[in-house]
Amino acid sequence: MKPTALVTGASGGIGYEFSHLLAKAGYQLIIVGRSETKLQQLKSELQDHSVTIIPEDLSRPDSAGDIYRQVKEKGRTVEVLVNNAGFGLNGAFEDLPLLEQKHMLQVNVHALTELTHYFLPDIKETQLQGVPKGIVNIASIAAFQPGPKMAVYYASKAYVLSFTEALHEELRGRDLTITTVCPGATDTNFFKNAKAEGTKLVNYTMSPKQVADQAFMGFVKGKRVIIPGKLNKSIAFSTRLVPRSLAAKLAHYLDT
Ligand SMILES: NC(=O)c1ccc[n+]([C@@H]2O[C@H](COP(=O)([O-])OP(=O)(O)OC[C@H]3O[C@@H](n4cnc5c(N)ncnc54)[C@H](OP(=O)(O)O)[C@@H]3O)[C@@H](O)[C@H]2O)c1
Repeated sequence: MKPTALVTGASGGIGYEFSHLLAKAGYQLIIVGRSETKLQQLKSELQDHSVTIIPEDLSRPDSAGDIYRQVKEKGRTVEVLVNNAGFGLNGAFEDLPLLEQKHMLQVNVHALTELTHYFLPDIKETQLQGVPKGIVNIASIAAFQPGPKMAVYYASKAYVLSFTEALHEELRGRDLTITTVCPGATDTNFFKNAKAEGTKLVNYTMSPKQVADQAFMGFVKGKRVIIPGKLNKSIAFSTRLVPRSLAAKLAHYLDT
């Protein structure tokens, strides 16, 4: 029986590319997102592979539990969980609608945490030969510094990095990999959806395929944190060398 990977936000961007890589590596897929049409499109592209669709809005507070229940009702077990779904909002904190910021926290933080909590015991228990099992959480290089004009988004990604690094340590020595991926600017719908298309960051993008390739390779190697691309690695490293007030100023400059 082939192992199964569940990918949230598989309908576009990094999650879409990651799903292709997992299918090619021999995993059956369970793909999650709001757009059933886009999920169907991905399923038809992967017609030689087993793909199950779960349309779900992760900003709904009960969504993670409902996804887990549906997976169990189908008699399935998940060996790899990819918490990729996420979005940003560009603008001053006090100007952005509170409800939209709460939805962002629900998707980027709560759904990711809850899905991890639901699926981790099953992932720990299953026995796999030859292919890795574990959890891949998509954070961002935004995780390394405060982000004026995207304050809640940056903070949500700092949470993902901290949470996932802690889990990696808790589960050290077990036969599974807990990985955080910290992409820099990537050429997806992210900037359009965040209303950040005019920011300087869009001049330094990687393709979602490049990001997914490096993320997948890092996961297979059991890496703790993966920062795709040399420029992004140096940006993340440089935040350690300067005061956080200066790092915040630089992020503010790039996000305008
Ligand atoms: N692009 C970048 O520059 C960049 C940089 C660093 C980190 N990231 C992170 O990378 C991850 C993937 O983003 P991307 O760049 O690939 O952007 P994207 O092309 O906009 O893809 C985002 C994915 O998340 C899903 N999603 C968003 N809101 C959702 C919700 N409420 N419920 C369920 N699914 C939802 C979307 O599916 P539906 O629309 O079908 O729901 C889509 O498949 C995100 O966590 C993002 O924060 C992106």
